[in-house]
Amino acid sequence: MTHLHDLSPSSSLLFGLALGFLATTASSHFLLPLISHPHDQPPSSSSIPDIKIGVEGLIGNTPLVKIKSLSAATGCTILAKAELQNPGGSAKDRVALAIVERAEQEGLIRPHSGDVVYEGTSGSTGISLAMICRAKGYTAHICLPSDTSTEKIDLLERLGATVEKVPPAGIVDKRQYVNMARTRAAERNALPGGGRGLFADQFENEANWRAHYEHTGPEIYSQTGGGKLDVFITGAGTGGTISGVSRFLKPRVPGLTVVLADPPGSGLFNKVKYGVMFDVKEREGTRRRHQVDTLVEGIGINRVTRNFEIGRPLVDDAVRVTDEEALAMARYLVEHDGLFVGSSTAVNCVAAARYAKKIGPGHTIVTVICDSGSRHLSKFWKAAGEVSRDHELELDEILNMSRS
Ligand SMILES: Cc1ncc(COP(=O)(O)O)c(C=O)c1O
Repeated sequence: MTHLHDLSPSSSLLFGLALGFLATTASSHFLLPLISHPHDQPPSSSSIPDIKIGVEGLIGNTPLVKIKSLSAATGCTILAKAELQNPGGSAKDRVALAIVERAEQEGLIRPHSGDVVYEGTSGSTGISLAMICRAKGYTAHICLPSDTSTEKIDLLERLGATVEKVPPAGIVDKRQYVNMARTRAAERNALPGGGRGLFADQFENEANWRAHYEHTGPEIYSQTGGGKLDVFITGAGTGGTISGVSRFLKPRVPGLTVVLADPPGSGLFNKVKYGVMFDVKEREGTRRRHQVDTLVEGIGINRVTRNFEIGRPLVDDAVRVTDEEALAMARYLVEHDGLFVGSSTAVNCVAAARYAKKIGPGHTIVTVICDSGSRHLSKFWKAAGEVSRDHELELDEILNMSRS
């Protein structure tokens, strides 16, 4: 074996240059242990902390990013948990993994045995479940409303999920997509022999809020230097995020205010503010085709789910955000920050900015970037219109929209 001190000055220089070249072209984390211990076997990937094991290893530990424009315009520090950086593009990766792992622990499903995971979802959960099922040896069967955006359906199919489109219907209808998924799982379980069916049930399954209690909440706590935040603000679909994060943070962060950001047509705003589930758009005779009539996807609901209820007593306040405000905020974040976000994130950011103005400068507000705008091109972003090249929208123009 050649030692560095055996080499002549010129060959030592060449050796050094070669080492430098290798060290800059290969990953330093991988190469340097080999150089310092030449007789060692290459370390196994699982013993190197920076190497993630499989797609599951890429889930969580998302960054917390300061939104510069909103922080400057409000005088508060507005931070966002960048959940779009999960491998499936949203926080639902955490939930899908938790649901599947819990079912495995309970012996309800087993990899590569023909078991199928069923879910009714028009949103990101289907994509996350399809990804996790692929990675772990299951088939995902996703029931969704037939008017779900084409990019989501395409993505599910590319991930190998079975996609079942059902006509849009209310939750009391047996053919509603969540009910349909439950039925399909039961049908599979009733078949003699063959694989089993698991109904993932993200709205009621407690693995959902627990994933945020065990991971998202603690991550926010440590990323804010041990819970140095004043407000946590986010929308609720299943309620898993707001409940899990609040249950973790509230007992650990004295004075923390938890705020719900709610889109039009959702009953949660009234539930938080007045204890009743009623929205003016839901009056008899005025009900539109969809239960929650808004361009915003993923948040807003007209029933209290188990995942929302578990954190509801910890939610202190609610902010209503119109579609017009959310669309303008989506353009604003591109114009000022180059941030291309989806509809629920736009709602979160309007609510965060409005709350910042309400409580005044000097506070730290944490919200969530739920997913990227690329999931919302054919619906929300189509309605958002052109991003301006010369006129940058001002925050006050957005916050005053509902007053004009
Ligand atoms: C894009 C998007 N944002 C936000 C949410 C809301 O998260 P949660 O279900 O934890 O309330 C969802 C839920 O489906 C979603 O799909």
